[in-house]
Amino acid sequence: MATDIHELLNSLTLKEKIGQLQQLPPFLYIADLKNEVYGTVRDLGITEEDVFLSGSVLGIRNASEMIDVQKAYLKRSRHQIPLVIMADIIHGYETIFPIPLAMAASFDPEVARKAARIAAIEAQTAGIHVSFAPMADVSRDPRWGRVMEGSGEDVCLAKAFAKATVEGFQHDGIEKIGNMASCVKHFAGYGKVQAGRDYHAVEMSMNEWYNTYLPPYEAALKAGARLVMAAFNTFNGVPASISPFLMRETLRDRLLFDGVTITDYDSLQQVIAHGAAYDQRDAARLGMTAGIDIEMGSATYVKYLESLITEGVIDESLLDQAVLRILELKRDLGLFENPFKGADLDAEKALVRSEAHLQAAEKLAETASVLLRNDNHALPFMTHDTVALIGPYARSRSTNGGWSWHGDIEHNETLEEALIRHKATISLVSDADNKEALSDHDKTMIKAADVVVLAIGEHWRDSGEARSKSMIALDEGQIELVRFAKTVSKRVVVVLYGGRPLVLDDIVLADAVLMTWFLGSRASSVIARTLLGNISPSGKLPMTFPKNNGQIPIHYDHLNTGRPNLRDGNPYVTQYIDVQNEPLYPFGYGLTYADIVIKDLQVDREIMAKGDVLHIDLTLQNNSDVTSEDVVQIYVRDVVSLPVRPVKEMKAFKRVKLSGHQSVVVGFDLGPEAFSYVAENGHVILDSGLFEIHAGMDSQKTIKRLIEMR
Ligand code: BGC
Repeated sequence: MATDIHELLNSLTLKEKIGQLQQLPPFLYIADLKNEVYGTVRDLGITEEDVFLSGSVLGIRNASEMIDVQKAYLKRSRHQIPLVIMADIIHGYETIFPIPLAMAASFDPEVARKAARIAAIEAQTAGIHVSFAPMADVSRDPRWGRVMEGSGEDVCLAKAFAKATVEGFQHDGIEKIGNMASCVKHFAGYGKVQAGRDYHAVEMSMNEWYNTYLPPYEAALKAGARLVMAAFNTFNGVPASISPFLMRETLRDRLLFDGVTITDYDSLQQVIAHGAAYDQRDAARLGMTAGIDIEMGSATYVKYLESLITEGVIDESLLDQAVLRILELKRDLGLFENPFKGADLDAEKALVRSEAHLQAAEKLAETASVLLRNDNHALPFMTHDTVALIGPYARSRSTNGGWSWHGDIEHNETLEEALIRHKATISLVSDADNKEALSDHDKTMIKAADVVVLAIGEHWRDSGEARSKSMIALDEGQIELVRFAKTVSKRVVVVLYGGRPLVLDDIVLADAVLMTWFLGSRASSVIARTLLGNISPSGKLPMTFPKNNGQIPIHYDHLNTGRPNLRDGNPYVTQYIDVQNEPLYPFGYGLTYADIVIKDLQVDREIMAKGDVLHIDLTLQNNSDVTSEDVVQIYVRDVVSLPVRPVKEMKAFKRVKLSGHQSVVVGFDLGPEAFSYVAENGHVILDSGLFEIHAGMDSQKTIKRLIEMR
């Protein structure tokens, strides 16, 4: 019989109810707390009793640890409410998929859905019930290290990926073994931290809030995400974790979210450092008032909620609502029936890093690399071409990228091993990451090779949390390596690793540049097969690559100014005097080994009534012999509006496969939401008047038609 959570709530003491709101690390339940002098318990200022009253756990290593923790907890618990186990399962558990930004580059939400699905199946064997993903923060500033965890700069893409990720984790119901509850984060606006510096302030106009930053979180919630994590940042002056506007008015009242809210690590206590509270008691009061249910990383609720309630400062009904939401989650996860749900040593052996999962990781990484340039068909090369493979990633196994705690890089192949396995002819391998590290012998071999492959880029630790950079440049030594290679070789290929867009500088001297991000467990095999032409690259940039650091933040869907740059010699226009406005590579850009073009953009009506669905047809034509996938993108512009609307906004996209010289007609339907926006007061507006419909293989070069909305 299903547990009656209201009855259960009524049976709890005030202290027990407050305990449900506390999240703690797993080792506390199995450590000798009496002798625990160094750490968490002392820092948090909690007691051993508090540990065994707490409601949830952050992070678990494996099934046996989960079983030990839950057993130890239940042995001491009067009420027998199981702990719910939460963890960061971001792009895989032990089988690692491409980093989220790379998955977004596939422009194929199915990639994210399948990756989340397998991640859930694996993580469930360790008894992990909640995944702290997806990160639905739109991010337009590549200096922010966390851009790797999201889907980039575009609203339409971020919405589609947030939705698919939630659906992948939760699948056909969180009660079932193999599925997990999804926690969308970081609410809200975290991707807009000032100057790309992590944890910094966020100032947000209501125009960008409703039209750019809010929609992906909304999409995750519509897809059924059961939890929401608050962000570290202030949002228009108020720390997100205690923001009534975000946590109550937006989440509960506007979006009708009735699931669990959780702080980010320590973010409730951090409101003191923000200057929003004098002390922890004040922080607890503000958190409960705003509607934060679970406290992660600090313990202000456990220490102060009891007195706040007994002294009448906080109404106990607020606490009851929070506890009910947590009990509801535990009930729906099936934890009352089986507190060890999922944790299974046999399943762990059979499923984690299974060959089937690794093969899926390879398949799902195939569409993520972005070919930025390919002069004179430098790529692909043939198995008989001699290859000089140089650079820090030539023999590296660090292809998982950040946020892959359970993934062990030792299992990964190196690029050298993968190229050899795929029958490439390697004449030289060197880890040199600058010209000086090359011996005379190396230089001779580089000169003699048919192709020089430079496997270079950012260190994997350079992206992720607390990895902001003021300059997104590559090491000067690596750039020098490209310059040198180009002076002695006619065919220089750069394989570029990174967790963010990069300023490429002279990297573009190379004949070909393939952006491969961090593609996970099977990265090297996918890259080798791409270099050898077994896969045609077909990823598209989910974030703009700027020409230099000063162009940041830069994104394609900007507003026009009253002084657009018409390039007619007038200097009083919107421009820099030292660099063009245009980026190096725009959003949506990426080449393939084929030559696929768009033509014949047709709309089924030139005059639309509000509420109509516009049907678009276009032809994709492959002018080459090569079979390839490519991604066609549809953009809309509301020509005249108040407030003014962006120069273009992506509203739909499709990945299409074409064989050599094939032409296909591709259709799209654009409903009213593709033409509407949200006004500052939160109301949805659908303007009358002219709209441009653009189709392109990137956001810059498009063909267009005009329609009128009446
Ligand atoms: C991060 C979150 C993460 C949490 C728990 C925080 O530092 O901001 O994204 O889910 O830690 O690991």
